[in-house]
Amino acid sequence: MTFSQSRCFLLVTGGCGFIGSAFIRWVLANQKVRVVNLDALTYAAQPEALVGVRGAAAMALCRAISMMPVK
Ligand SMILES: NC(=O)c1ccc[n+]([C@@H]2O[C@H](COP(=O)([O-])OP(=O)(O)OC[C@H]3O[C@@H](n4cnc5c(N)ncnc54)[C@H](O)[C@@H]3O)[C@@H](O)[C@H]2O)c1
Repeated sequence: MTFSQSRCFLLVTGGCGFIGSAFIRWVLANQKVRVVNLDALTYAAQPEALVGVRGAAAMALCRAISMMPVK
């Protein structure tokens, strides 16, 4: 996977979780991209998983709930 746009912003939901934090660590280490982490910070969140991540300054942690439409 490659993001060719250096000005690209990636919106990651659940980025403080097990999978999301691993994804963010990988993206910031391997891609020229900025990340916005939208996480509801529930009991499952582990924000410490992102401490010290290279490029973390480019990442904003938002406490918000992502919603999906209910059909
Ligand atoms: N050590 C391990 O091996 C380990 C640890 C944890 C999880 N797991 C596995 O990983 C899988 C789950 O990982 P995951 O990352 O999908 O889930 P997760 O529960 O680890 O993380 C979910 C994240 O999404 C956030 N979230 C929940 N609802 C949200 C919403 N509406 N809007 C925004 N953010 C929201 C939570 O706050 C949390 O940070 C499972 O298979 C589990 O067994 C393994």
